Parts: sequence; structure tokens; C-alpha cells
Amino acid sequence: MKIAIAREVDAAEPRVAATPDTVKKFKALGIDVAIEPGAGIKSGLLDADYDAAGAVVSTEAVKDADIVIKVKRPEASEVTKYKKGALVIAIMDPYGNEAALKALADAGVAAFAMELMPRITRAQVMDVLSSQANLAGYRAVIESAEAFGRAFPMMMTAAGTVPAAKVFVMGVGVAGLQAIATARRLGAVVTATDVRPATKEQVESLGAKFLAVEDEEFKNAQTAGGYAKEMSKEYQAKQAALTAEHIKKQDIVITTALIPGRPAPKLVTAEMVKSMKPGSVLVDLAVERGG
Ligand code: NAI
Repeated sequence: MKIAIAREVDAAEPRVAATPDTVKKFKALGIDVAIEPGAGIKSGLLDADYDAAGAVVSTEAVKDADIVIKVKRPEASEVTKYKKGALVIAIMDPYGNEAALKALADAGVAAFAMELMPRITRAQVMDVLSSQANLAGYRAVIESAEAFGRAFPMMMTAAGTVPAAKVFVMGVGVAGLQAIATARRLGAVVTATDVRPATKEQVESLGAKFLAVEDEEFKNAQTAGGYAKEMSKEYQAKQAALTAEHIKKQDIVITTALIPGRPAPKLVTAEMVKSMKPGSVLVDLAVERGG
């Protein structure tokens, strides 16, 4: 069997699907591994490192591979180079991208979407949503700290006191929880909101304040799978009224709210943005699903 590690074609994608350590594990299973030149360069992994781990570095890496692994779904131009019947494993971003999926089917490959991996304990090491959301939540706070004109913690100086930054996190899944924890570590005063009741305790356990419309609909907003339901128009209106008042006083707002397979809920209106103070920062992690 042969596994190929393909180079990402998206210029904005710095990740690579496997490291030299992963290659060693494949080799230990008796699998041949090939990699396209420069595949790891943006992650700081050199062709020589892959070569030393036992991979063949070649421009023809994917040509006769039984399995092709990638970070992002291959484009139609890439997939034509793959062997018919090959398995392609990547983050497929399947919802709303039917044409791109059809191109894979037409090329005769079998696609595995890593984001559809069941989120059960046994599969946690393969959970690309959690690992990436965790880092994205951290990074959202770091980016906002860079863009924000003041410090995060309260600063007491002989010349006066600067209040702590106020951070509001909307959507408290994996990314939101990490954003709360990171903002707290930097010394901000943090509030957070979500429609799933289970998040209230999680927010409070991180030292942040929970803010939500806690009505009957809220009590039933979590699906059996642990995700949020799409909320009714009435709930959305109540939520918007509560948020509108709160957002005015915030320095930094980080939105992470998502509903699997649906467009992201629109939680911050143009009106709310206008009500924010000059110099405030808004980071939208849900932008890939419409924002
Ligand atoms: P997600 O990325 O689908 O959504 C982010 C957050 O947005 C969620 O907390 C969701 O409730 C919230 N949200 C949706 N609509 C909203 C609205 N209108 N207003 C405010 N917030 C809204 O969520 P993620 O990070 O994938 O986590 C979902 C669940 O999966 C969580 O319960 C998490 O603990 C669980 N999970 C379980 C794992 C396991 O291995 N058992 C691994 C990872 C997550």
C-alpha cells in the first residue's frame, strides 16, 4: 500500500497533512510513503526531514497512491492526477459545496471528510474540529490583543489607572471556551453567551460571566449530539435585544457561533457594530460559514 502526502495548493494554507513523525508510524506499519516536494515547508518541515523519516520526495507522489492525505479538499485540477479508486482523506467542507464533491465522485475517488469523524472519546485523536477550534479560539484573542489599542489587564500606574479590557465571547463551544480562557489569562474582564444551557457552568468555571436569554427554548436548545439547534425568530429577537445593550460597552467581541450544516447565526448587526466604541475590535471565527 502507498500513502501520498499532497502539497496544499491554497496559498493561504500553511498546514501539511502529515509530519515526519507520522511518516515513521506509516513506515512501521509497512506502508510506502511519498510526499510532494515542499509540502511541509510552510509548517517548518523540510523535504530532508521527510526523506530521513523514510518518505520518497517526488513530484509524482500522488500518481499511483492508494491513499492521498491532504489538509483541504483537493480541487478538480488536483484530483485528476490521482489513481481511480484512490481514497482521499482531508477536511472536505462538504456542506454547500456539492459541485466540488461531484468533481471528486466524477474522478472516481472515495472521499473521507475528517470533520464528520464521530466526536466520541475513542476518536478524539482524529477530531480535527476540536484541535483546530481550540487553536483558533486562542489565536482570536491574540489577534484582537494586537489590534486593540490598550492593554488587557487593569494597569495601575503612578499616573493613573487604565481599566481592564472587556471581552465578550459569543458561542461557547471548543473555540469559545479557549477564547475565554486565553482572554482571562491576559487579564480581561470576560462575558460570554451561548444558547446551550450546559455552557453556563463552563463559562463560570473559567471565571467569566454568563449572559443569555434563559427561557424555555434555551432549556431545550441542545441536540442529543451536543450541538446547538437553530433558534426561533422570537428567541433571536430577544437575544439581539440583550446583546445590543451589552455590546455597546465591550472593547473586544469574538463570535464563534456555528450550527452544523447550516449557515452561522448572525448575532451582530451593523447597528450593533455602530454602537461600539471607536477602537473596539470584532473577530469573527464563523466567517467560513457566512459569519
Ligand atoms: P460549534 O463549533 O458547532 O458551535 C460553537 C458554539 O456556538 C456552540 O457552543 C453553539 O452552542 C453556539 N451557538 C450556536 N448557535 C448560537 C446562537 N444562536 N447564539 C449563541 N451561540 C450559539 O460547537 P463545537 O465547538 O463543535 O462544540 C459543540 C459541542 O460538541 C460541545 O458540546 C462540545 O463540548 C462538544 N464536543 C465534544 C467532543 C467529544 O469528544 N465528546 C469533542 C468536541 C466537542
